[in-house]
Amino acid sequence: MAKQITGHYTFDVFDSINNLNSEDQNLLTAAIKAINNAYAPYSNFYVGVAVLLENGKIITGNNQENAAYPSGLCAERVAIFYASSQYPGIKIKSIAVSANSKKYNINYPIAPCGSCRQAISEYEVKMDSPIRLIMFGESGEIYISPSISNLLPLMFSSKNLSE
Ligand code: THU
Repeated sequence: MAKQITGHYTFDVFDSINNLNSEDQNLLTAAIKAINNAYAPYSNFYVGVAVLLENGKIITGNNQENAAYPSGLCAERVAIFYASSQYPGIKIKSIAVSANSKKYNINYPIAPCGSCRQAISEYEVKMDSPIRLIMFGESGEIYISPSISNLLPLMFSSKNLSE
């Protein structure tokens, strides 16, 4: 029998936005609002993200699609890259994600894609401070992850590039 490594992850699960603490409620509300500016004419899948910085500032973003499909960018990366470009060195405390679709009701939490998890992890490692992730669809439960590493076992980071 080969040796095994087993990990585990934990999310806090909430039934409603009303059950979140006021800071998280506020951030998720900003993410839901940010959906309105999403540009997603190809997928009709609209994503809004809000990033809370340690200085209290909230940065929002949304997905931006392109006729050359891979040239578009997810809401999470639009928001965190903008946050880092405007407030380099300020820690990111939490990120809220929400989504809706013209085609169906998203009644479960949307988790960031692998590329976005990797992109967000860069700032978690750089700042040496966990980034909380609040995940929501347009109705249903809300999941909260205490960190990005919780969603990305064996993640690749700058630590792998130092001797
Ligand atoms: N998308 C996001 O913006 N964030 C996610 O977490 C998942 C996917 C976008 C990319 C694309 O514009 C559309 O949703 C469908 O994949």
